[in-house]
Amino acid sequence: MIPISAVSIGTDEEQLVLQVLRSGRLAQGPVVERLEQEFRVWSGTHHVVAVTNGTVALVAALEALRLPAGSEVVTSPFTFVATLNAILEAGLVARFGDIDPRDFTLTAESVDAVAGGRTSAILPVHLYGHPADMSRLEPLARTRGWAIVEDAAQAHGARVADRPVGSSGVGCFSLYATKNLAAGEGGLISTDDLDLADRLRLLRNQGMRARYRYELAGHNYRMTELQAAVVLPQLARLEAATKRRAENARRLTEGLSGIPGVELPTVAPGRTHVWHQYTIRITSESGRSRGEVAEFLTRSGVGHGVYYPRPVYDYPCYREHPRVVIGDHPAAERASREVLSIPVHPLLSDADLDAVVRAVRGAFDAG
Ligand SMILES: Cc1ncc(COP(=O)(O)O)c(C=O)c1O
Repeated sequence: MIPISAVSIGTDEEQLVLQVLRSGRLAQGPVVERLEQEFRVWSGTHHVVAVTNGTVALVAALEALRLPAGSEVVTSPFTFVATLNAILEAGLVARFGDIDPRDFTLTAESVDAVAGGRTSAILPVHLYGHPADMSRLEPLARTRGWAIVEDAAQAHGARVADRPVGSSGVGCFSLYATKNLAAGEGGLISTDDLDLADRLRLLRNQGMRARYRYELAGHNYRMTELQAAVVLPQLARLEAATKRRAENARRLTEGLSGIPGVELPTVAPGRTHVWHQYTIRITSESGRSRGEVAEFLTRSGVGHGVYYPRPVYDYPCYREHPRVVIGDHPAAERASREVLSIPVHPLLSDADLDAVVRAVRGAFDAG
């Protein structure tokens, strides 16, 4: 089976993990600090704070902003559930805009339409590695005085014009096992705001400035040295790996164009996609259901995934939640019925890519 994602771990990671194990220092220490420094340079933001995972990165970001009690955060209805759970965990109210059907990310118009007097922040998601339209979302937020938290869990290195994602307000990256940078679990928070970075560091470490000197009620969101050691060497290879993803995406698009009723992913002008996922849409005009195509791919040995089968609010636990405000989100509803992701990761060989193209085409050719 050609997997939908694959982790690339080499001897550099092995050596650094071994070095950490032998150092006797396992909890947050110098390797975490090095990761923060190197990601800071790599991502082009002034401060980076490493945390346990991408979900708590979002929670900590929202908490560090000190939004007024009862504030609403406007986010995308088409995202992984962590985005919504983080808003709720931070004690805030979630409200949803809608997505651009071409790139699956939150639109400024939809935010403008649903935002109200209690809106204090927006939380765009750079889904699949394609950045949201920060060139419109950022000015809108600035005009209205809203904070910006970017969910960049899937988008390490993505850019809008020459601005890296995670530099508009607070950026939250995941290092989960399937992400473009993979520690197993882990998260990184980026910001240009020194005070916010300071508060994030306090929140991460039980609110403690120096030993037993507590300045605020905090958490244990610390990253371990082992997590940092697994991911640090990957950072040096990330640019090359991202180029490979883009080249794979180009090959897939070349091989899959022209199938009636199948829409291929596009990149919005001025934005740089990092191809965490290559996601096609199977519309009703294709004559095949998504389930049929997925089954054909499984039989052909090609891994695939549906990210995500429903808009994030469309479960009883959220429909009945007093702090989840649901409206009309037709583009997200439609995307959740049509999307199917196929392998694009950098470990695919030329033969794998040919096999993926053949299998997808085959799903529509077969009787
Ligand atoms: C869009 C999105 N947001 C948030 C997260 C949460 O990250 P983590 O799994 O590291 O907690 C993920 C990944 O899992 C994600 O894909």
